[in-house]
Amino acid sequence: MNRDSNDTQPVKLTGEEIAKHNSRESCWVIVHGRAYDVTEFLPEHPGGPKIILKYAGKDATEEYEPIHPPDTLEKYLDKSKHLGEVDMGTVEVEEKEVDPDEEDRQKRIARMPILEQCYNLMDFEAVARSVMKKTAWAYYSSGADDEITMRENHNAFHKIWFRPRILVDVEKVDISTTMLGTKVDMPFYVTATALGKLGHPEGEVILTRGASKHNVIQMIPTLASCSFDEIMDAAQDGQCQWLQLYVNKDRKVTRRIVEHAEKRGCKGLFITVDAPQLGRREKDMRSKFSDVGSSVQSSSGGEVDRSQGAARAISSFIDPSLSWKDIPWFQSITKMPIILKGVQCVEDVLRAVEAGVQGVVLSNHGGRQLDTAPSAIEVLAEVMPALRERGWQDRIEVYIDGGVRRATDILKAICLGAKGVGIGRPFLYAMSAYGLPGVDRAMQLLRDEMEMNMRLIGASDISQLNPTLLDTRGLSMHTAVVPSDTLGKNVYDPLVGPKEKAKL
Ligand SMILES: Cc1cc2nc3c(=O)[nH]c(=O)nc-3n(C[C@H](O)[C@H](O)[C@H](O)COP(=O)(O)O)c2cc1C
Repeated sequence: MNRDSNDTQPVKLTGEEIAKHNSRESCWVIVHGRAYDVTEFLPEHPGGPKIILKYAGKDATEEYEPIHPPDTLEKYLDKSKHLGEVDMGTVEVEEKEVDPDEEDRQKRIARMPILEQCYNLMDFEAVARSVMKKTAWAYYSSGADDEITMRENHNAFHKIWFRPRILVDVEKVDISTTMLGTKVDMPFYVTATALGKLGHPEGEVILTRGASKHNVIQMIPTLASCSFDEIMDAAQDGQCQWLQLYVNKDRKVTRRIVEHAEKRGCKGLFITVDAPQLGRREKDMRSKFSDVGSSVQSSSGGEVDRSQGAARAISSFIDPSLSWKDIPWFQSITKMPIILKGVQCVEDVLRAVEAGVQGVVLSNHGGRQLDTAPSAIEVLAEVMPALRERGWQDRIEVYIDGGVRRATDILKAICLGAKGVGIGRPFLYAMSAYGLPGVDRAMQLLRDEMEMNMRLIGASDISQLNPTLLDTRGLSMHTAVVPSDTLGKNVYDPLVGPKEKAKL
């Protein structure tokens, strides 16, 4: 190594030196101005070695940044492989090929609507679709297989109609409520969505700040682009955050994550139970294919199509053997309330009550896992009567997520008995298109819609919302896959088949 004799004054490495280590036999990469020897790590990389080898001897920061929290190298690469600072002035800057798609995108960014032109959550989606990078859009917007569940999530709300009450004093309307004992200003939370930096360079901390401003809860994803501590540090005093947990095959790692979250003040542990394997999201896979165009070795040694995308690669640690038998162990390692995220039928909600967990999120992961799994709102309509029948409705808090785009959707869920709803993509889109002001406006729009609709439905506070305010007779009809609203139709990207090869 290029150090002086007493090893106290590290001499910066040069680009030329690093460029020599550009092979499987000796592979060095630069990340954020520092060099790392990843030769031995290549076979262990969850995303496979090929993607690293693409950057062997070069600066990998741009590819690395959105997918890896900043403490990744600290945590997973032995200190002896941290080679030191690089004199970035000596690193050859690769001429980037002119990408016509990127040029067009920059033009669209220059013409994008001003924030005040967004009047509802779908508007953010429409802007994000036009200004986000293709790969990021594909990762956020995609659903599993034919995306039937993804679309049903949103459409299902349209099958429920209100039965509004009149002549109720609604001069003052209070939409605050409590979730797992925390008082919040509105009955929704920011649900966990991975890889925030694909949409915005600052990542999840933008959502933390938006949630703080509106006093709603943020659920922190295991696979955030920011580190867990960065997201906790971005919170204001007293701000409530929950942890979403993907359970690692190595329970020591899981235990460490849970204990750390509790120590840092997280107020709920949401264990994701609908992803023993990640769903096939074909839009995402297609976009990865055209971007990377190669296949790589999986960490288990088999050939994995790189087109399966970053999500699959970074989630290979998730334990598919996780079962009901593990619940007592979680209860033994934490005092945080435990909530199962991704429950999809009545039987499992009843089992969750028996297992003594504090809550469930009825969810199909935003339609990204099992296609033709039911919408959460439909499951909710079945779950609450079953709980009430047994007198169990207060033994567990029931949340739902998936397809919530309007305050009327939230109201319908609360009327049916949900404690609150999670919202995923809309805040990602607002953040990607407009940063914090976008997230702020999205939340404000929901607040405005919510107050108005409470008045129009004839309820002055959340406790007055109940099932008699709804007509749910159409909910079990599973025929409507075509969005019944025009905004929904406008922003849906139809699935397309394989593209012809580009002309040589
Ligand atoms: C881009 C994206 C990433 C997601 N990442 C995770 C995750 O890491 N863990 C998890 O439990 N759920 C994840 N979800 C699912 C969400 O928590 C939530 O169930 C879903 O987004 C709700 O649907 P909506 O996007 O229609 O609001 C993700 C969803 C999206 C769209």
